[in-house]
Amino acid sequence: MPFCPTGPWRPAPVWLARVVGRSDRPPPPGDPSALFARVPDPSFGWRAAIAAEQRDAVSPASEVDNAVDVVLRCEHLTRRFDDRVAVDDVSFQIVAGETYGLLGPNGAGKTTTIRMVCGLLRCDSGHVHIGELEMNSRALAAKARVGYVPQDIALYPDLTARENLEFIGRLYRLSGRTLRERVDEVLTLVDLAERRDDRVEAFSGGMKRRLNIAGGLLHHPALLVLDEPTVGVDPQSRHAILESVRTLGMGGMAILYTTHYMEEADRVCDRVGIIDRGRLVAEGTRRDLVSMLEEHDRIELSASGNLAAFVEACRRIDGIDGASLTDEHVQLLAREGRRLLPAVLEAAEHTGAAVQSVEVVEPDLEAVFLHLTGTALRE
Ligand SMILES: Nc1ncnc2c1ncn2[C@@H]1O[C@H](COP(=O)(O)OP(=O)(O)OP(=O)(O)O)[C@@H](O)[C@H]1O
Ligand SMILES: [Mg+2]
Repeated sequence: MPFCPTGPWRPAPVWLARVVGRSDRPPPPGDPSALFARVPDPSFGWRAAIAAEQRDAVSPASEVDNAVDVVLRCEHLTRRFDDRVAVDDVSFQIVAGETYGLLGPNGAGKTTTIRMVCGLLRCDSGHVHIGELEMNSRALAAKARVGYVPQDIALYPDLTARENLEFIGRLYRLSGRTLRERVDEVLTLVDLAERRDDRVEAFSGGMKRRLNIAGGLLHHPALLVLDEPTVGVDPQSRHAILESVRTLGMGGMAILYTTHYMEEADRVCDRVGIIDRGRLVAEGTRRDLVSMLEEHDRIELSASGNLAAFVEACRRIDGIDGASLTDEHVQLLAREGRRLLPAVLEAAEHTGAAVQSVEVVEPDLEAVFLHLTGTALRE
């Protein structure tokens, strides 16, 4: 059956082909992700609840979605806190083997979206489906298919890595040999096998983050949800985390990854959804998104002085379609950037800004964000 989208998402053939290609590819020999490449085994204690929910599951688009193995489907998610709309009509979907990044600044609504996806927060309106199962706070079968790695580390410092994982595994109703094997698997995957008997209080921030991720993988979820997994970690651990995510994606797991680091979204995500002030303002592959800016360049300046006035003056230049200021860095989105350089330098002189360096570079996701929202990701 041909794929026929039923929501407002944009499943361009480009990403569809890429995802199908990726999930068809077997993991390399000895790759621990092979362990996660199968459909999760829902046989750990919730069998009755799962059977009942599967019987009752109603999914109008399930026949269509099954054609491309949609693991997560979010439709029109909305959530308010008092008068503030934290998430506003957000729809997207993720297929098996695909890593989808929610990219947005602080307060954009990433964690709120994730909490609704995991059934931890009620939606004011909209629906979340994990496969054919609708998610809500009591949906045990749907929850059993999701591995959630929260933004804040949730580990016991005075237990060892192994003891922490055994504790988490028991919450997933794992026990005995299965539990021991799963603990070993995930410790190997996050490269902490040698530290399994060390207490977590002796771990670096990056090692704790990796162990936090391991906890979300114990029950072989179909969907792994990672909320800013690299915040505050050293470069080596960041690299290890990003590599683990790539490995899991290649093994067939669907991954929802939130970040406000453009480079991470670029490196690990097959598709990116850009979220700002609760709204999903664009989504697609990096190539799709950057092609929205076809005739634009990004001008990066380091400068000192009255930079707010300088940025305001730049915004008034014909051909500058976005300007932002982060610390002493000014970013401009310019049509034919090189042609506009003299006008930009003149604006610096008029406003008393001392320019130390100027660079005209190809547009990237940061430029897309600037184009769509008028601000920088980390402004
Ligand atoms: N429990 C809550 N009560 C009231 N407001 C909330 C609550 N949780 C989130 N918000 C508000 O909802 C908005 C979105 O918050 P959210 O935590 O989803 O953002 P985020 O994109 O995850 O940000 P960050 O990158 O800082 O983690 C913010 O304005 C936040 O203050
Ligand atoms: Mg958050």
